[in-house]
Amino acid sequence: MSAETHKIFVCTSCRHKGTNCRPGYQLIKTLQEALKTALPLTGDDFEVSGIACMAGCSRPCTVAYRANAKATYLFGDIDPEADIDDLVAFALQYRELDDGWCNSGDRPGKLSRTALARIPAAIIVAEANEAAVS
Ligand code: FES
Repeated sequence: MSAETHKIFVCTSCRHKGTNCRPGYQLIKTLQEALKTALPLTGDDFEVSGIACMAGCSRPCTVAYRANAKATYLFGDIDPEADIDDLVAFALQYRELDDGWCNSGDRPGKLSRTALARIPAAIIVAEANEAAVS
């Protein structure tokens, strides 16, 4: 398990399909509460925050997971009410993965088929090293 803070970003611009409702803020609150319940001793391992559009607009809602030296994920088609358990289960799984890497079949429930992007940690680490050299 990494001691680094893991970050979950929820798009606050996504709308429910066919409506003007933007459920991102409510999803942030619900996810924060669910994580506190699931992680009573280590609830601070995750920071859940809102973010502007992550370019998954046709697949609302979008949620991203990121941590230092780990793969970054962007998921779409998240139902703010029905998919909380899957989001929490993936948070627990992601926290335990050294490099954050897992295949679709290893992810819980709906997250096994709704990834819009998985960005390997190696790219991010390589860019950080380049910046340090120049
Ligand atoms: S509006 Fe949410 S990803 Fe674009």
